[in-house]
Amino acid sequence: MLYKRTHMCGELRISDVDKAVVLNGWVAKARSLGSLVFVDLRDKTGITQITFNEDVADEILDKAKSLRSEYCIGVKGVVKERSSKNANIPTGDIEVFADDLIIYSAAETPPIYIKDDDNVDEALRLKYRYLDLRKPKMQNNLNVRHRIVKCIRDYFDENGFMEVETPILIKPTPEGARDYIVPSRVHNGEFYALPQSPQMFKQILMVSGSDRYMQIAKCFRDEDLRADRQPEFTQIDLEMSFAGVDDVIEVQEGFIKRVMKEIKGVDIETPLPRLTYDEAMERYGSDKPDTRFDIELIKLNDFFKDCSFEVFTNALKDGGDVRGICVPGGAAEFSRKKIDKITEEVKHYGAKGLIYVKSDDNGISSSIGKFFTDDELQALIEHCGGSKGDIVFIVSGTSKVTYDSLGFLRRRVAKELGLLDDNKFNFLWVVDFPMFEEDEEGRLKAMHHPFTQPKLDQLDKLDNDILGLKANAYDIVLNGVELGGGSVRIHDQELQKRMFKALGLSDEECQEKFGFLIEAFKYGAPPHAGLAYGLDRLVMLLLGENSIREVIAFPKNAAAECPLCEAPAPADPEALEELGIAVK
Ligand code: AMO
Repeated sequence: MLYKRTHMCGELRISDVDKAVVLNGWVAKARSLGSLVFVDLRDKTGITQITFNEDVADEILDKAKSLRSEYCIGVKGVVKERSSKNANIPTGDIEVFADDLIIYSAAETPPIYIKDDDNVDEALRLKYRYLDLRKPKMQNNLNVRHRIVKCIRDYFDENGFMEVETPILIKPTPEGARDYIVPSRVHNGEFYALPQSPQMFKQILMVSGSDRYMQIAKCFRDEDLRADRQPEFTQIDLEMSFAGVDDVIEVQEGFIKRVMKEIKGVDIETPLPRLTYDEAMERYGSDKPDTRFDIELIKLNDFFKDCSFEVFTNALKDGGDVRGICVPGGAAEFSRKKIDKITEEVKHYGAKGLIYVKSDDNGISSSIGKFFTDDELQALIEHCGGSKGDIVFIVSGTSKVTYDSLGFLRRRVAKELGLLDDNKFNFLWVVDFPMFEEDEEGRLKAMHHPFTQPKLDQLDKLDNDILGLKANAYDIVLNGVELGGGSVRIHDQELQKRMFKALGLSDEECQEKFGFLIEAFKYGAPPHAGLAYGLDRLVMLLLGENSIREVIAFPKNAAAECPLCEAPAPADPEALEELGIAVK
């Protein structure tokens, strides 16, 4: 038996009084007071209070008394005005006096409470995700994600983009992470890779004349997980023919405006700020700067070049840098104990130590007080734009260490000082990324990917300053998170060959890895450019969440496991036999 519902549980209002209604849902709470039973009935839209009293048949009242949390039920009744109203919920003016009840499913005592603010261990939440998702906050997160996806499809459709699905069983894509590989039964000993992104296929779609492509695309990367990284995640993947940097940026800014207005009701001013990569690193120590607060890095090489403190002078002699940040009002906030704690934290970014100089009512205090006079330290604070009440933090080392450490630290102290305003949405572009970077072993690799177009007026750097060569690559950043990245692509075969050569790829390797793309480019490749956003990250930031796991229905845990279905798991020996695979 199924009761056909007339309303959802969050819908009824005072204007519905005296209507006969049917509601279906879950028991959020049941209270039995003798011959009165109150039930909070929940579905994804909200809660309605249901009242069973002596007027109902005995068997119905008995059934109501048997209700427990999370029973799934249907109720028929009449809407009445409540005598004691509940201003906390939209349906709080009314209750439904039940005259009939059906129990669809009983429920065992749930292992987690269905309450938004409940501090349940995440492992349990993920194992019982279907219960976790019954929470109003989680339903709202899924709903906002749905609305964002709809807004994406609407906007890009209106702008001439066509959604095309690309395959999941493919050859490896060059995004730089480890692949998930899938063995082939038909071709024993051969493997598919799951796409790290649809990169090569979307470029081929441009060769195919599709002009403007978009896809809500599943991507798979076997990499170390963090709050904003999942092994399986979703991109808003885009590509445009006959487009350069400014064309991509213009279309994307239209999208950002639209999604922010539609989902958050916030007007975003465009054009968005653009920072070059070099400027972003120099000012913020990061290629994804959080500009919600004013603290910027200050290069102190000149200030310290003749000082007697060898830690600094040695760093400078070795070709490194000395950089600092000045934290307004930080003197009182950062006690020795707190400084010790953040010193340990910056060490994760390669800093050997963290030096501080503070000025307060007691004068100047500093961890390098032995090496400098108070006047010199006072001059340093002033040089950094500070005054009494402020603290300056300094790191020396390679420029990468100073950028990474202070890039982390400026955000860390801003958090401590409450400067990270969740209601501010500071979008910006970082442009002109380096074309190449060195990996840990000193090998050259493409910073974005090898199909990225270098700045065409800098090609001589390929021969004499390869790390200085910049690319037509850009990232879009929101509040310190890399939301998306893309580039103009190479459509000139000769240039593509030079880039592969610079990366040390032989013709055979190129053929093996990207042969099909190179082949396609022989038949009239249009100039094209594109970008991909991390959808999970966009949803996370618009919802003010701290982890993308909060906006993915069934995420993996930090060990890349699905606690709900218990993947990964050993494979059936017969299946392995058919695949020609023996597990060591
Ligand atoms: P990229 O590798 O920069 O570019 O990825 C684009 C965006 O995808 C998101 N992202 C992730 N989100 C969650 N978990 C992950 N493991 C993860 N990895 C990446 C980020 C990132 O900015 N093909 C190119 C795009 C292009 O050139 O058009 C690409 O994939 O938000």
